[in-house]
Amino acid sequence: MSGKKQIWYLEGSAAEKLAAPLRTRYDLRPVSQNKKGALRGAEATGNGVPTVWLADMKASGKVLQARAREGRSKYRIIGIFPANGNSSAKARRARSSNDRSSVFAFLPSNAPRNIVEKTLEAAFENIDLVERDRAGRRTVKTWEREREELNEIGVALSSQREIGALLTLILSKTREITAADAGSLYLVEQDSQGQHLRFMLTQNDSLEFPYQEFVLPMAENSMAGYTALRGEVLNFPDAYKIPAGHPFRFNNSYDRDSGYHTRSLLTLPMRNAKGEVLGVLQLINCKRNRAARLLSAKDVAKYVQPFRERSVRLALSLASQAAVAYENRKLYNEIETLLEGFVSAAVTAIEQRDPTTSGHSLRVSAYTQSLAAAVNATSSGPYAGTFFDAEQLKEIRYAALLHDFGKVGVREEVLVKAKKLYPLQLDVLRQRFDYIRKETEAGNVRRKLQVYLEHDRGDALSEIARLSEDFDQRLKRIEEYLQFIIEANEPTLLEQHQFQKLREIAQQSFLDPRGIERPYLNPGEIKLLSIPKGSLDPSERLEIESHVIHTFNFLSQIPWTKSLQKVPEIARAHHEKLNGTGYPYKLRGDQIPLPTKMMTICDIFDALTASDRPYKRAVPIPRALSILEDCVRASELDPDLFRVFHEEKIYERVMPPTAE
Ligand SMILES: [Fe+2]
Ligand SMILES: [Fe+2]
Repeated sequence: MSGKKQIWYLEGSAAEKLAAPLRTRYDLRPVSQNKKGALRGAEATGNGVPTVWLADMKASGKVLQARAREGRSKYRIIGIFPANGNSSAKARRARSSNDRSSVFAFLPSNAPRNIVEKTLEAAFENIDLVERDRAGRRTVKTWEREREELNEIGVALSSQREIGALLTLILSKTREITAADAGSLYLVEQDSQGQHLRFMLTQNDSLEFPYQEFVLPMAENSMAGYTALRGEVLNFPDAYKIPAGHPFRFNNSYDRDSGYHTRSLLTLPMRNAKGEVLGVLQLINCKRNRAARLLSAKDVAKYVQPFRERSVRLALSLASQAAVAYENRKLYNEIETLLEGFVSAAVTAIEQRDPTTSGHSLRVSAYTQSLAAAVNATSSGPYAGTFFDAEQLKEIRYAALLHDFGKVGVREEVLVKAKKLYPLQLDVLRQRFDYIRKETEAGNVRRKLQVYLEHDRGDALSEIARLSEDFDQRLKRIEEYLQFIIEANEPTLLEQHQFQKLREIAQQSFLDPRGIERPYLNPGEIKLLSIPKGSLDPSERLEIESHVIHTFNFLSQIPWTKSLQKVPEIARAHHEKLNGTGYPYKLRGDQIPLPTKMMTICDIFDALTASDRPYKRAVPIPRALSILEDCVRASELDPDLFRVFHEEKIYERVMPPTAE
């Protein structure tokens, strides 16, 4: 075949004369017609070569037009009509709307050569234009399909949160898009020794073969190392026939050990946006038919082909998307680790502030997590349809861990106050009573001396005996007062008669070293010792209660991610009660977030059962549950959440740590 553009015409027709002078420029193809009108030689028409039929409209026009309509794209018809008197009528007929769609142009049989040439050029140009337009459309369609495919994969990659699953997805999607039977993924790792490659995973459609992670040196003597170092694509139609001159060889140990047959091999870098190579993808055996399994050398010969340019392009594009997704995921994990570290440092800070409640935050968090999981699993009651997803569980966990963080804003002496008086106050009070004792003794000695000086011996002795008796009684009373104060200082319930006794002591006075009369108890001490129950007076209680506000203020400063945005809101309501008797906002019912309702049950339970408060005995679990039941009856706690807490024995799922 000449490869020249072809001109076809009916042998002996008027078109032959028009075509003859163009012999040097075009490949002329006369076609003969038998008696029945069938054409011989016309089947070969086209054959990929642009062709123009000079169709004698009188003889062959209809047949040729019919052939043209078969859809041969590189094919045009120029209709030739006789140049006699009837020509205009025939031409009109030929140019009817039916024909126009398949005939490119019309020429009279006596058309001058230059007109014939120009018309032919226009016809071939038209073929070329249409061809290019079609090819362009095909390319655009392919690109669009590929872009959609890559977009879909990109979405899948960016939504995968777990690194292991992400790497699996990267490899499987790259294999899918390149029709690779098998593949492996390596990651570039950095440690104190420098960089190396970690073989992370392998996939194989045809064969299951156990593998283990291993580490490869970052060196050019392996294909993965070469690609990782140079960032170059390696594409070999046959791994066993790698051209000489490369620093690496194909490592056939996998084939040897598994019986697999590697043929075509593509090694690609996974580059991030900065162009750094984060990993390497190795794809093996590009299959003609994705479903084929390669179980023998024969299968490989039948189904495996080299990786084509399109596969390389797509795989490279996917590999860089994968690198970005992997890098983002790593970054996300690092941020999560950072947040975890920050939260655990914050928890340590709270526990150090008040060692007597050590472990409380961790236990409340663990109880609340367990309760949330139990609520997820419950199939009855109003929470049957409630489900906390992984993100919400994390939000609950952080809120529970940090619920008491605001205690760092409460004065330490108030925070750890175990008795009504502060330890220093009791010390001062004891020293005051020591002084009172000594002062009483000194007064007694002074009085006795005076008696000696003012009375004769007989009278003096009896007066001194009376003074001694009086002194003993006064000392006894002072001792009694002190003992009473020490007892009243305990955070237990104060009885009515004890208030009276306190008033009695308060009315006693002594002379200080400067001779000024002072009361046994100052107003501040009386106020604290008069606390009817517990160790805190109303202002101290308010200060302790303010920890919730401090918690909220502190947590609100943190720019939580969208999924953790409710942490401050959940944490700040942990002392609210359903009936509005809680603090500090006196929220009611649904004003309290559901996670908080769970946390409150766990918080109270731990406060009751924790055994690490020196001033407060741990309450046994049955007693703690019955106290919680009382709270439920008083409409303070959610009855359905408590039912889950009780029935699922949440308190047993987390063993409270024993005090050290
Ligand atoms: Fe609290
Ligand atoms: Fe708490």
